[in-house]
Amino acid sequence: MNIVYQYREVSLTSDLRSDLEEITAGYASKKIFLIFESNTWKFCWPLINGFRQVPESNILVLKPGEDNKTMDQVVAAWEHLGDNGADRSSLVINVGGGMLTDLAGFAASTFKRGLSFINIPTTLLAMVDASAGGKTGVNFRGLKNEIGVIRQPAQVLLFLRFLETLNRMNLLSGYAEMLKAGLIADRLLWQDLRNFTFDDYSEEKLARLIQRSVSIKIDIVEADPEEHGIRKSLNFGHTIGHALESESLRSGKPLPHGYAVAFGMIAEAELSAIKLGLSKDSITEIRETITRLYGNPPETIHHADVLLGWMKFDKKNSNNLINFTLLEEIGKCRIDIVATAEEIRSSLIRVNG
Ligand SMILES: NC(=O)c1ccc[n+]([C@@H]2O[C@H](COP(=O)([O-])OP(=O)(O)OC[C@H]3O[C@@H](n4cnc5c(N)ncnc54)[C@H](O)[C@@H]3O)[C@@H](O)[C@H]2O)c1
Ligand SMILES: [Zn+2]
Repeated sequence: MNIVYQYREVSLTSDLRSDLEEITAGYASKKIFLIFESNTWKFCWPLINGFRQVPESNILVLKPGEDNKTMDQVVAAWEHLGDNGADRSSLVINVGGGMLTDLAGFAASTFKRGLSFINIPTTLLAMVDASAGGKTGVNFRGLKNEIGVIRQPAQVLLFLRFLETLNRMNLLSGYAEMLKAGLIADRLLWQDLRNFTFDDYSEEKLARLIQRSVSIKIDIVEADPEEHGIRKSLNFGHTIGHALESESLRSGKPLPHGYAVAFGMIAEAELSAIKLGLSKDSITEIRETITRLYGNPPETIHHADVLLGWMKFDKKNSNNLINFTLLEEIGKCRIDIVATAEEIRSSLIRVNG
C-alpha cells in the first residue's frame, strides 16, 4: 500500500491505482461497480485507468453539477445496479466531488437495503468534508439534501493529483470548509490557512492542512454520528450559508457550496458577536480573510426575509426557532444557540457594514 497518511476510514495515497487493486482484492469474488459523473470520467478516470478489469457494463457515468443532484439520477443508478446484477455483496466505488459522493452514496446505501461503498473524492470540498462522515442524499423540490440517509463509507481514499484539474473556484469552495474547521476547533489551523496561498503551494503543505481539517471532522463525527449534539458544530456558517445557497440555486445563479458557507460564516460571525460576544478583532480577521479569498458577499445577503424563509425550511430548525452554531472565539464554538428573526436581521445588516 502507498498510504502516506491514515485517519480512521480516510487514507491519503500516493498511488491510487495500485492501492485500489489491493483494497478491492478483498472483494475479488464480488462485483465491483464504479460511478462517475462526466467531468470526473474525463479528468479522473485516466489517472486510475487500468485498475482491475472492471467490465464496461459495471461503469456508470452520471450527469455532473448540483442541478443534477436529483432523484432521477438516483433512479438511474439503481437501474444500472439492478440491470447489471448487483447483489448485497457488491461494492460501489464513487469517484467524484460532493455532488457525486452524496448522490451515489445514497443510491448504494438504499439499493437492496445497502451496499458497501468506497468514496474517492475528486474535489477539495469532497476530500475535506463531503466524502467522509456518512451523510448522503439528494436535493428535492428545491431543498438542499432534503432526501438522504446517514451511512458510513467503507473507505475514503484521497489522491491529491485529482486537484490538478480543479479550477480555482472549486479549490476555494473546498477551502471554505477547511477555514470552518479552523474557526470551530483549531486556532492554529486557522492561522496556517490564512498564511497559505494557492498561487504558489507545495503538495506536502496542502496535504498537511487537509489532514488536519479531515481529522477535526472525523473526531467530531465519531463522537456524534447522528448529529444529536457536537456534530452540529460542523454547521457553523451553514445555517445562513444554506439559505444563500438555496436562494442562489432558485434564482439561477448558483453559488458554490463553499462560497455560500464562506459568506454564511461572515454573517454568523456577526451573529456570534451579538449572541456570544465574539470580539471585534476576530470578526474583522474573519471578514478580511474571507473577502480577500471570495470577494464581497452577493446582494442576497441583505435580503433578510428571503433568507429567513429558507432557514425556516431547514431540517435543523423547528417551531420558527433558528438554531445556530456560533463562535465564542476563534477556535472555539458553541452549539444550539437559538436566534430570533430580529437578531438574524441585525447580523445580516452588519455584513459589509
Ligand atoms: N455529505 C456531506 O457531509 C457534505 C458536506 C459538504 C458538502 N456536501 C455536498 O457536496 C456538494 C458540493 O461538492 P463539490 O463542490 O465537490 O461539488 P461537485 O461534485 O458538483 O464538484 C464541483 C465541480 O467540479 C467538477 N469536478 C469534480 N472533480 C473534478 C476534478 N478532479 N477536476 C476537474 N473538475 C472536477 C464537477 O464536475 C463539478 O463541475 C454539494 O452538493 C453539498 O451539498 C456534502
Ligand atoms: Zn459544508
